[in-house]
Amino acid sequence: MTRIVAISGSLRKGSYNTALLHAAKEMMPAGAELQILAIDAVPLFNEDVEKQGVPAVVDALKAQLAAADGLLVSTPEYNNSIPGVLKNAIDWMSRPGADIPRIFHGKPFALMGATPSGFGTLNAQTAWLPLIRYFRFRPCFANPLYVSAAHEKFDSDLKLTDATVSAALKKLLADFVVFTQNQV
Ligand code: FNR
Repeated sequence: MTRIVAISGSLRKGSYNTALLHAAKEMMPAGAELQILAIDAVPLFNEDVEKQGVPAVVDALKAQLAAADGLLVSTPEYNNSIPGVLKNAIDWMSRPGADIPRIFHGKPFALMGATPSGFGTLNAQTAWLPLIRYFRFRPCFANPLYVSAAHEKFDSDLKLTDATVSAALKKLLADFVVFTQNQV
Protein backbone atom coordinates (compact mmCIF):
# COMPACT_ATOMS: atom_id res chain seq x y z
CA MET A 1 0.00 0.00 0.00
CA THR A 2 1.34 3.41 -0.97
CA ARG A 3 0.57 5.92 1.74
CA ILE A 4 0.50 9.61 0.88
CA VAL A 5 0.00 12.22 3.58
CA ALA A 6 -1.62 15.53 2.71
CA ILE A 7 -1.68 18.96 4.29
CA SER A 8 -4.17 21.73 3.55
CA GLY A 9 -2.89 25.22 4.22
CA SER A 10 -6.26 26.49 5.41
CA LEU A 11 -7.95 26.08 8.78
CA ARG A 12 -11.37 27.34 7.77
CA LYS A 13 -14.35 24.97 7.66
CA GLY A 14 -15.33 26.00 4.13
CA SER A 15 -11.80 25.71 2.74
CA TYR A 16 -11.57 24.91 -0.96
CA ASN A 17 -8.06 23.54 -0.43
CA THR A 18 -9.24 21.13 2.24
CA ALA A 19 -12.19 20.23 -0.01
CA LEU A 20 -9.74 19.52 -2.82
CA LEU A 21 -7.90 17.08 -0.55
CA HIS A 22 -11.17 15.39 0.42
CA ALA A 23 -11.90 14.96 -3.29
CA ALA A 24 -8.39 13.56 -3.74
CA LYS A 25 -8.94 11.03 -0.95
CA GLU A 26 -11.89 9.61 -2.89
CA MET A 27 -9.90 9.39 -6.13
CA MET A 28 -6.77 7.61 -4.99
CA PRO A 29 -5.74 4.80 -7.34
CA ALA A 30 -5.99 1.19 -6.20
CA GLY A 31 -3.23 0.25 -3.79
CA ALA A 32 -2.78 3.78 -2.48
CA GLU A 33 -4.37 5.83 0.28
CA LEU A 34 -4.37 9.48 1.25
CA GLN A 35 -4.31 10.58 4.87
CA ILE A 36 -5.10 14.24 5.54
CA LEU A 37 -3.01 15.63 8.40
CA ALA A 38 -4.53 18.36 10.58
CA ILE A 39 -2.40 21.38 11.42
CA ASP A 40 -5.11 23.17 13.45
CA ALA A 41 -3.46 22.42 16.78
CA VAL A 42 0.07 23.49 15.81
CA PRO A 43 1.02 26.48 17.98
CA LEU A 44 2.70 29.60 16.66
CA PHE A 45 6.39 28.94 16.33
CA ASN A 46 8.47 30.43 19.12
CA GLU A 47 12.05 29.44 19.88
CA ASP A 48 11.38 29.94 23.59
CA VAL A 49 8.63 27.30 23.36
CA GLU A 50 10.93 25.08 21.33
CA LYS A 51 13.53 25.15 24.13
CA GLN A 52 10.94 23.34 26.28
CA GLY A 53 10.62 20.70 23.59
CA VAL A 54 8.89 20.23 20.25
CA PRO A 55 5.12 20.01 20.94
CA ALA A 56 3.61 16.52 20.81
CA VAL A 57 1.31 17.56 17.95
CA VAL A 58 4.34 18.50 15.86
CA ASP A 59 6.18 15.28 16.74
CA ALA A 60 3.10 13.36 15.58
CA LEU A 61 3.03 15.23 12.25
CA LYS A 62 6.75 14.57 11.76
CA ALA A 63 6.28 10.87 12.48
CA GLN A 64 3.40 10.65 10.00
CA LEU A 65 5.43 12.40 7.31
CA ALA A 66 8.52 10.29 7.99
CA ALA A 67 6.48 7.10 7.58
CA ALA A 68 4.69 8.27 4.42
CA ASP A 69 5.67 7.50 0.84
CA GLY A 70 4.93 11.05 -0.24
CA LEU A 71 3.56 14.45 0.74
CA LEU A 72 0.76 16.27 -1.10
CA VAL A 73 0.17 19.92 -0.17
CA SER A 74 -2.87 21.95 -1.17
CA THR A 75 -1.87 25.54 -0.68
CA PRO A 76 -4.11 28.57 -0.55
CA GLU A 77 -2.60 31.86 -1.70
CA TYR A 78 -2.42 34.80 0.69
CA ASN A 79 -0.94 38.04 -0.59
CA ASN A 80 0.71 36.22 -3.48
CA SER A 81 2.45 33.80 -1.12
CA ILE A 82 2.14 30.89 1.32
CA PRO A 83 -0.38 31.39 4.16
CA GLY A 84 1.23 31.86 7.57
CA VAL A 85 -0.47 28.86 9.19
CA LEU A 86 0.97 26.54 6.56
CA LYS A 87 4.49 27.99 6.71
CA ASN A 88 4.24 27.90 10.50
CA ALA A 89 3.40 24.18 10.49
CA ILE A 90 6.26 23.43 8.10
CA ASP A 91 8.66 25.52 10.21
CA TRP A 92 7.73 23.56 13.33
CA MET A 93 8.10 20.26 11.46
CA SER A 94 11.63 21.31 10.47
CA ARG A 95 12.72 21.42 14.15
CA PRO A 96 15.15 20.36 15.41
CA GLY A 97 17.04 21.06 12.20
CA ALA A 98 19.01 17.84 12.65
CA ASP A 99 15.78 15.97 11.82
CA ILE A 100 15.42 17.60 8.38
CA PRO A 101 17.29 14.88 6.46
CA ARG A 102 15.20 12.11 8.08
CA ILE A 103 11.86 13.85 7.66
CA PHE A 104 12.23 15.75 4.41
CA HIS A 105 15.18 14.79 2.23
CA GLY A 106 14.15 12.90 -0.87
CA LYS A 107 10.47 12.83 0.12
CA PRO A 108 8.27 12.66 -2.97
CA PHE A 109 6.28 15.88 -3.06
CA ALA A 110 3.29 17.17 -5.02
CA LEU A 111 1.67 20.57 -4.85
CA MET A 112 -1.68 22.03 -5.87
CA GLY A 113 -3.92 24.84 -4.77
CA ALA A 114 -7.33 26.45 -5.07
CA THR A 115 -8.52 30.04 -4.98
CA PRO A 116 -11.67 31.90 -5.97
CA SER A 117 -9.41 34.25 -7.95
CA GLY A 118 -8.14 33.91 -11.47
CA PHE A 119 -4.60 32.59 -11.22
CA GLY A 120 -5.20 29.38 -9.31
CA THR A 121 -2.53 29.91 -6.59
CA LEU A 122 0.25 30.28 -9.16
CA ASN A 123 2.10 32.75 -6.93
CA ALA A 124 1.73 30.65 -3.80
CA GLN A 125 2.96 27.55 -5.61
CA THR A 126 5.93 29.53 -6.93
CA ALA A 127 6.62 30.68 -3.37
CA TRP A 128 6.99 27.01 -2.43
CA LEU A 129 10.02 26.58 -4.70
CA PRO A 130 12.68 27.72 -2.17
CA LEU A 131 11.20 25.30 0.39
CA ILE A 132 11.20 22.45 -2.11
CA ARG A 133 14.87 23.17 -2.77
CA TYR A 134 15.82 23.69 0.89
CA PHE A 135 14.10 20.52 2.10
CA ARG A 136 15.45 18.56 -0.88
CA PHE A 137 11.99 17.24 -1.66
CA ARG A 138 11.69 15.07 -4.75
CA PRO A 139 9.02 17.12 -6.52
CA CYS A 140 6.58 15.67 -9.02
CA PHE A 141 5.85 18.60 -11.29
CA ALA A 142 4.29 16.50 -14.07
CA ASN A 143 0.70 17.68 -13.56
CA PRO A 144 0.49 21.22 -12.22
CA LEU A 145 -2.95 21.91 -10.76
CA TYR A 146 -4.02 25.53 -10.34
CA VAL A 147 -7.69 25.66 -9.40
CA SER A 148 -9.07 29.12 -10.16
CA ALA A 149 -12.67 30.30 -9.60
CA ALA A 150 -12.90 27.64 -6.89
CA HIS A 151 -16.32 28.88 -5.76
CA GLU A 152 -17.69 27.66 -9.11
CA LYS A 153 -16.03 24.25 -8.88
CA PHE A 154 -17.39 22.98 -5.58
CA ASP A 155 -21.03 22.76 -4.54
CA SER A 156 -22.47 24.08 -1.27
CA ASP A 157 -21.43 20.82 0.43
CA LEU A 158 -17.84 21.39 -0.80
CA LYS A 159 -18.03 18.46 -3.20
CA LEU A 160 -15.88 18.89 -6.30
CA THR A 161 -18.30 19.22 -9.22
CA ASP A 162 -16.03 20.39 -12.03
CA ALA A 163 -15.21 17.61 -14.50
CA THR A 164 -12.00 19.24 -15.79
CA VAL A 165 -10.55 19.73 -12.31
CA SER A 166 -11.65 16.20 -11.33
CA ALA A 167 -9.86 14.68 -14.31
CA ALA A 168 -6.72 16.75 -13.67
CA LEU A 169 -6.70 15.79 -9.98
CA LYS A 170 -7.17 12.11 -10.78
CA LYS A 171 -4.22 12.23 -13.19
CA LEU A 172 -2.05 14.12 -10.69
CA LEU A 173 -2.74 11.46 -8.05
CA ALA A 174 -2.22 8.48 -10.34
CA ASP A 175 1.07 9.85 -11.68
CA PHE A 176 2.24 10.89 -8.21
CA VAL A 177 1.67 7.40 -6.79
CA VAL A 178 3.75 5.89 -9.62
CA PHE A 179 6.37 8.62 -9.07
CA THR A 180 6.68 7.72 -5.36
CA GLN A 181 7.44 4.13 -6.30
CA ASN A 182 10.19 4.98 -8.79
CA GLN A 183 13.66 5.36 -7.35
CA VAL A 184 15.67 8.41 -8.40
C1 FNR B 1 -6.53 36.03 0.19
N1 FNR B 1 -6.94 35.49 -1.03
C2 FNR B 1 -6.09 35.53 -2.12
N2 FNR B 1 -6.36 34.82 -3.27
C3 FNR B 1 -5.47 34.83 -4.31
O1 FNR B 1 -5.72 34.17 -5.32
N3 FNR B 1 -4.32 35.56 -4.24
C4 FNR B 1 -3.99 36.28 -3.14
O2 FNR B 1 -2.93 36.89 -3.12
C5 FNR B 1 -4.89 36.28 -2.03
N4 FNR B 1 -4.59 36.97 -0.89
C6 FNR B 1 -5.34 36.77 0.24
C7 FNR B 1 -4.91 37.30 1.47
C8 FNR B 1 -5.62 37.04 2.62
C9 FNR B 1 -5.11 37.55 3.93
C10 FNR B 1 -6.82 36.28 2.56
C11 FNR B 1 -7.59 35.98 3.83
C12 FNR B 1 -7.26 35.80 1.37
C13 FNR B 1 -8.23 34.80 -1.16
C14 FNR B 1 -8.06 33.32 -0.89
O3 FNR B 1 -7.62 32.69 -2.08
C15 FNR B 1 -9.40 32.72 -0.46
O4 FNR B 1 -9.76 33.25 0.80
C16 FNR B 1 -9.37 31.20 -0.45
O5 FNR B 1 -10.70 30.73 -0.35
C17 FNR B 1 -8.49 30.68 0.69
O6 FNR B 1 -8.33 29.28 0.59
P1 FNR B 1 -9.33 28.27 1.35
O7 FNR B 1 -9.50 28.75 2.77
O8 FNR B 1 -10.64 28.31 0.60
O9 FNR B 1 -8.66 26.94 1.24
